[in-house]
Amino acid sequence: MPQRHVVAAAGEIAAGGRKLVNVAGREIGIFNVAGDYYALANRCPHEGGSLCEGFVTGIARSDGPNDYRMERKGEFLRCPWHGWEFDIRTGQSWCDPQSVRIRQFAVKVEHGEDLVKGPYVAETFEVKLDGDYLVIEV
Ligand code: FES
Repeated sequence: MPQRHVVAAAGEIAAGGRKLVNVAGREIGIFNVAGDYYALANRCPHEGGSLCEGFVTGIARSDGPNDYRMERKGEFLRCPWHGWEFDIRTGQSWCDPQSVRIRQFAVKVEHGEDLVKGPYVAETFEVKLDGDYLVIEV
């Protein structure tokens, strides 16, 4: 049965930032994309690279040769091994979205006062009643 894990204080990961955590033996990257949080397995579906350590970028669009532009900046993650790109919001591969995706975990923002009622596991820090925290289920 999945457990809830407190993995960060809500203000700890700035927009555009990330935090790598180890939860229940899994490496997971927590990303803040324009104020929304996403948790992704740090394992590329291609050959197992440390995907969550990759470059956060946008996606190149083109209407023809020599005409390209970057769109959706900060929403894509490029694997540091062979460069496959994934949509952070959906976990889907940009090139093969129907069959290749990263494992995702739900992230919720919860108030410290609610967390003390449990059950949850605080990984690395003290939970204060008046703070907000990121909680994932693994
Ligand atoms: S291991 Fe990620 S692109 Fe190959």
